[in-house]
Amino acid sequence: MGLLDDKVAIVTGAGGGLGRAEALLLASEGAKVLVNDVGGARDGKADGDGADPGMAAKVVEEIRAAGGTAETNTDSVANPEGAKAIIDAAVAAFGRVDILVNNAGILRDKTLRKMTEPMWDAVVAVHLKGTFLCTQYAAQRMIEQGDGGRIVNTTSVSGMMGNFGQANYAAAKAGIYGLTRTAAIELQKYRITVNALAPIAKTRMTEDLPMFQGMDTMTPEHVAPATLFMASDLCGDRTGHVLAASGSRMYAFRVVETRGKFKDDNQAWTAEEIAEHWDAIIK
Ligand code: NAI
Repeated sequence: MGLLDDKVAIVTGAGGGLGRAEALLLASEGAKVLVNDVGGARDGKADGDGADPGMAAKVVEEIRAAGGTAETNTDSVANPEGAKAIIDAAVAAFGRVDILVNNAGILRDKTLRKMTEPMWDAVVAVHLKGTFLCTQYAAQRMIEQGDGGRIVNTTSVSGMMGNFGQANYAAAKAGIYGLTRTAAIELQKYRITVNALAPIAKTRMTEDLPMFQGMDTMTPEHVAPATLFMASDLCGDRTGHVLAASGSRMYAFRVVETRGKFKDDNQAWTAEEIAEHWDAIIK
């Protein structure tokens, strides 16, 4: 008995890195998996270093070699036709969709002052718009099926906390947080949970960061069980959470609203008073 017997899962961007580990783990728990990946380079370009249109098919071969069930899909999450084709491909192959893992991503880092509009648009399109489009089509299908569903989005420490040189990526990932919270509220009545993963792992996206040099204990395989938890019935009715996984550390992100401070007689604050009472306001 696997945790996901008879379930159909889609994992976007699953041709390598975290998505590959997630697809392999979900399949090992009995899910039939649609392995999606456009096979682009780290920056999303089809002709860049590391681009490989066959990467999704290789993961499908790995799943089948281990006795699992999987099909390949190479459509892009970043436009409506591609996102719809991904959901349709899962339905055509396996008859339904129970789980969607929105994992596909690219990087185009530059400081705010040097970032170009195409760099902004490309990153926001894959992460934020792609997550929106796939979630919308998959949720529609899950609602029609009437059996609930599990959606796992992928945010980032960069989006939750900010990070130097990643204005486009951090904005997209923070947007995914807002999207997750709103989708969780709207889809609750259909028994569809929507949670997000904030991973840290050594992949082609992060391998040149100083923190990963000589480090072999922060792998995609350390992170994938967090996705499995949120994709399975072990998650129960928990929704709208951000589960963070980094090596052996499992934790969570939450937005904090302070208690604040009220002025007497419902008077409006002046800017000078805000300066004077700053510590009490943000405590
Ligand atoms: P990766 O580059 O190995 O994986 C991303 C995959 O998405 C690639 O295989 C790529 O071909 C695919 N992809 C790109 N554009 C696509 C599109 N339009 N449609 C379909 N597939 C597309 O990188 P990694 O690290 O595995 O990243 C996976 C996710 O985790 C990303 O969303 C990333 O932002 C996120 N993440 C990763 C962290 C880490 O420490 N590795 C930290 C925080 C977030």
